[in-house]
Amino acid sequence: MAVERIGVVGLGAMGAGIAQVAIEAGFEVVGREVTTELGEAAAGRIGHFLTRKVEKGQRTQDERDAAVARLTTTSELSKLSECDLVIEAIVEELDAKRALFAELERICRTDAVLATNTSALSVTEIAAATATPERVVGMHFFNPAPLMPLVEVVRAQLSADEAVAAALAIVERLGKVAVPCHDTPGFVVNRVLIPLLNDCVRVLDEARVTPESLDAAMTNGAGWPMGPCTLLDLVGIDVHVHASEALYEKLREPRMAPPPRIVGMRNAGLLGRKSSRGFYGYE
Ligand code: 3HC
Repeated sequence: MAVERIGVVGLGAMGAGIAQVAIEAGFEVVGREVTTELGEAAAGRIGHFLTRKVEKGQRTQDERDAAVARLTTTSELSKLSECDLVIEAIVEELDAKRALFAELERICRTDAVLATNTSALSVTEIAAATATPERVVGMHFFNPAPLMPLVEVVRAQLSADEAVAAALAIVERLGKVAVPCHDTPGFVVNRVLIPLLNDCVRVLDEARVTPESLDAAMTNGAGWPMGPCTLLDLVGIDVHVHASEALYEKLREPRMAPPPRIVGMRNAGLLGRKSSRGFYGYE
């Protein structure tokens, strides 16, 4: 199927990043936030990142303006009715996602593909909230979406071949790298990365090192592009704890469980960049 118009539901860090990638690739994008103000703020952040690309000579002003013009934001889900593909990037709560997919099924054309950007929930359980689970797939982007090349294309129990093929074709048009996989807890990357990051948090106390030292160790000794504490602050401490809990619930592997230190940070509101404080402080 020809996908020209993409809907993105939820314009937080992930949704806004996905919307940016899509308008840069030439798609028309309808972004939905709960309020008009939140939608406009997300559009402003996307415009800012594209302006930086112009300043750095990576895009012309005309290209930037044309990309920005391809984005509309709305607070009304019904505005997504003409989208060929809708990517959901709302809060990581199963009930909220299931309710949204049931609503999207009602609003969208019958041939539209419905994708979830979930990190650690089951795509199959989300799809089961619809009467047409064959058109539901996972499209899992990585943070920050405009910079990270990978998109895991997740085949749920009842995903149709056509829906998976459409998602793979879109990832290619977005200029990203697709890894098709099945709907297992954490898919590919988070199945490996979540317990690894939990080990990193545990070693802070075990080896009695500071976040700065641990980050220096992993960037200089293991070639990580950014240290684990910097990465956790970027991803969001709350997002990481939630993903850990979801994987622990499914797999029951002790390393999946979030260490008390990071749960305490979440409880205290030290959420990383988004709250200006996590392992580090931010302006
Ligand atoms: N959105 C859009 N553009 C952004 C951005 C964002 N969130 N963040 C930065 N940029 C743009 C900026 O314009 C920036 O340039 P500027 O500072 O001059 O304005 C430009 O990108 C380049 O930024 P950096 O100089 O910071 O880029 P680096 O070359 O240092 O690379 C990185 C940054 C790609 C993030 C690299 O450090 C990296 O690969 N880190 C690891 C990230 C990672 O592992 N992510 C996966 C997390 S797990 C996950 O997402 C799974 C989920 O389910 C939880």
